[in-house]
Amino acid sequence: MAQSLSLRVFDDADSLARAAAESIADLLHDAVRTRGEAHWLLAGGTTPVRTYGHIARSALKGTVDWGRVHFWWGDERWVRAGNPLSNQGMAHDALLTHLPVATGHIHAFDVAAPSPEAATAAYEGELRRVFQIRPLFDVALLGVGEDGHVASLFPGSRCLDEARWVVVERRAPKQPETRVSLGVTTLAAARCHVVLAQGRAKAEVLRRVLQGGEDLPITRVLAGGRDIRWFVDTAAWPLAPAGVAPDPVPLREA
Ligand code: 6PG
Repeated sequence: MAQSLSLRVFDDADSLARAAAESIADLLHDAVRTRGEAHWLLAGGTTPVRTYGHIARSALKGTVDWGRVHFWWGDERWVRAGNPLSNQGMAHDALLTHLPVATGHIHAFDVAAPSPEAATAAYEGELRRVFQIRPLFDVALLGVGEDGHVASLFPGSRCLDEARWVVVERRAPKQPETRVSLGVTTLAAARCHVVLAQGRAKAEVLRRVLQGGEDLPITRVLAGGRDIRWFVDTAAWPLAPAGVAPDPVPLREA
């Protein structure tokens, strides 16, 4: 299948978030119009907070029929609800509490389950119940770590080679060490991947990913993507050396 790749570069975090939010709202609107519902895979970490904020507080909020959107997570840190590290808590505060979401459309990891294994089995069951044969998200929003990790799939982890839809990471190099995550093929299963990279600390990994040829978790996931849209800021992009030529050449946007 042909892959479409775009990279847009913004001067600041706010314009990046606004453009990413517009793109996501368009994709969700189109999915609802053409298929009657939309499935959005949410990202954790800090970068998406502004993007969620734009969707929740701008006129974009009125452009999507939220009652038809399902919300999923790419990963969760194994912490109790209410813990400030919780990805689900962050998405609730920044996005979900501001939207008229339909009952049963928030598909969260059960962090109150007796073990991460029990939570991943339940999440896989929920994915099978809703998608049946295999998951296919309309939009997968992803962040990327400085080491190339995506969701909670870290370089060198055995989780990368697991065929299961949902995996348990017990030795993450970032706190908390225990996490639950979608596996590579499940994260790859999206009509569109929207990837955010912001700040100077992401410049080196962005260069490595766009240059290609390296086996990083993010590159494994995106290798299976159909429509990949990078949204990056000038802090993350300009350290890339001359000669790296992502296709198409990035547009610089204010
Ligand atoms: C997590 C994430 C993780 C995140 C990246 C980028 O739970 O930690 O899902 O994959 O997206 O680490 O995080 P930042 O946006 O905070 O840089």
